Amino acid sequence: AVRPRLFSGMQPTSDSLHLGNYLGALTQWVALQETHEALYCVVDLHALTVSPDPAVLRHRTRSTAAQYLAAGVDPERSILFVQSHVAAHAELAWLLSCQTGFGEAGRMTQFKDKSAKHGAEGTSVGLFTYPVLMAADILLYDTRLVPVGEDQRQHLELSRNLAQRMNTRFGAGTAIVPEPHIVAATAKIYDLQDPTSKMSKSAASPNGIIELLDDPKVVAKRIRSAVTDTGREVQYDPEAKAGVSNLLTIFSALTGTAIATLEADYVGKGYGDLKKDLAEVVIDFLAPFQARFTGYLDDPDALDDILADGAERAREIAATTLARMYDRVGL
Ligand code: ADP
Ligand code: NA
Repeated sequence: AVRPRLFSGMQPTSDSLHLGNYLGALTQWVALQETHEALYCVVDLHALTVSPDPAVLRHRTRSTAAQYLAAGVDPERSILFVQSHVAAHAELAWLLSCQTGFGEAGRMTQFKDKSAKHGAEGTSVGLFTYPVLMAADILLYDTRLVPVGEDQRQHLELSRNLAQRMNTRFGAGTAIVPEPHIVAATAKIYDLQDPTSKMSKSAASPNGIIELLDDPKVVAKRIRSAVTDTGREVQYDPEAKAGVSNLLTIFSALTGTAIATLEADYVGKGYGDLKKDLAEVVIDFLAPFQARFTGYLDDPDALDDILADGAERAREIAATTLARMYDRVGL
């Protein structure tokens, strides 16, 4: 059976991914590679929009790829590669940018938010055309499904509109219209210090974030200091007990124990017991994860080989799509 094609990626904009990235995205990626022909990309061209230091960007690109691998992305089964290794992403982005309305791109809420914060002079054209590059990432592989979180819904809608527009202007079959792939079981992980905001690398304080490459002692301390409430009972209640519910979600996701079972286990015990046990659970997960990560990062030749092989396989698919689209538009 043909496995439907799927594309997803993350920007190499931090030294470490966090537990939200792992539970919300990476574990889903690992599961999806069984049933889909998956392309998992480190989108380094996108990261240029935040003007990173070159050496830092180079390191983060490799580190992000090593974290995908440590999480269980299988380079035999899936195509794991770095965006800039496949020149066709930038080439298709140009073609699509000529199909995108100036006003249409200006209506993207992420662009509006960021440009409002930094002003017109502090905002690059790259940030403006970012969703067009994302559309290129997706359409380049005739992608059927894109696993997305709520924050990327509007950008995916633009990708779909561009695909439909290409088909209307240049003939049916010019582009495949991608569908969002919302995974129902995706855990949404919240900040430990502010359990109403999602855990994010752009949080004001690092104390609410569990970074996958953090020192386990730091992680244990952050979990023990997690904000809860004045109650006592360990119960899953996201409205009234956002902090405790977040801890239960993490506990359940990492151990596979149902939340109801956890609630029963903690009858007569308190938040302190839950935090102490969760700190152990997280450390037991992080220790082997970090060992696998270090293994990949400490063998640069092997990592290079994996990424070179992924790029080669990606380029092959991309070349076919790009040739078809160039031909359709008259190039
Ligand atoms: P961040 O918010 O830290 O910038 P990204 O936007 O780079 O994270 O997200 C990368 C991937 O991780 C996306 O698929 C996103 O849906 C997922 N993700 C990010 N934060 C969380 C979270 N707190 N809970 C669940 N999934 C998350
Ligand atoms: Na983000």
